[in-house]
Amino acid sequence: MRHPQLNEHGELRHLLTIEGLPRDIVTHILDTASSFLEVSDRAVKKVPLLRGKSVFNLFFENSTRTRTTFEIAATRLSADVVNLDVRTSSTSKGESLLDTIDNLAAMNADMFVVRHAQSGAPYMIAQHVGPGLHVINAGDGRHAHPTQGLLDMYTIRHFKKDFTQLRVAVVGDVLHSRVARSDIHALTTLGVPEVRAIGPLTLLPPGLEQMGLRVFTDMKEGLRDVDVIIMLRLQNERMRGALLPSSQEYFKHYGLTEEKLALAKPDAIVMHPGPMNRGVEIESAVADGPQSVILSQVTFGIAVRMAVMSILGGTR
Ligand code: CP
Repeated sequence: MRHPQLNEHGELRHLLTIEGLPRDIVTHILDTASSFLEVSDRAVKKVPLLRGKSVFNLFFENSTRTRTTFEIAATRLSADVVNLDVRTSSTSKGESLLDTIDNLAAMNADMFVVRHAQSGAPYMIAQHVGPGLHVINAGDGRHAHPTQGLLDMYTIRHFKKDFTQLRVAVVGDVLHSRVARSDIHALTTLGVPEVRAIGPLTLLPPGLEQMGLRVFTDMKEGLRDVDVIIMLRLQNERMRGALLPSSQEYFKHYGLTEEKLALAKPDAIVMHPGPMNRGVEIESAVADGPQSVILSQVTFGIAVRMAVMSILGGTR
């Protein structure tokens, strides 16, 4: 069965997940993002590719980076942007998600950028909307965060060039992380030969080895000779029951310190999707250190989101 995010010609209609996304589409998004990088350095940071289009940011869960970079990206493409303030919207009076969507669609929306705590919410919206409307998943539950996965791949390609020569470690709360899931699918699609998952057993989902990953519960062993370290936030808000003894204990075993970083390759890069818990999953000396590319991820996120929106809008 055709994936709902592709049209009958195999082109991107919505962006819901990286799982199953053909490699040529992933590469096209990354190449298109490259062409947008310089727009942010212009005196007038705008191109007219989405002029006259309306992009609605619908964030039913909090965000700093994703919401603002989608807004900046849409503005740089000359779109009109509406940020629905969910807290003051009529959802607080009991209006359903799909009724909200129908009403916003009636305002001739062209794109919905959706973040939701429920896995699958963007899928439901994509299947509900009419043919002219595009849905972008900006993070759904613990399921997927495709634009974060793509901007992470853009960052890795920028600093490391060749995916087929890399050893990449994904470290921490893999179980609850939509970023981890999107990154793992993207790394596999782009041909990374060795992807490692590192964390306590309580935070590693079953099935990672079947997906071709190497699994480590000892962080020092897992970090040895890696090229890229993707640290993950402890998703306390998605944990049910006590999965960890304490954040101090977690930091001792799974926090990235300068000492542990020294086990990776000397030119290894350190990534984190944010928001960071300093002193829990990463120490400040590493987060702010010379191997950190964490703020580059944010900058590249604008170009990647411009690429996704312009491709969906049919102008790239
Ligand atoms: N990386 C990320 O999704 O950050 P925000 O929650 O701030 O959007």
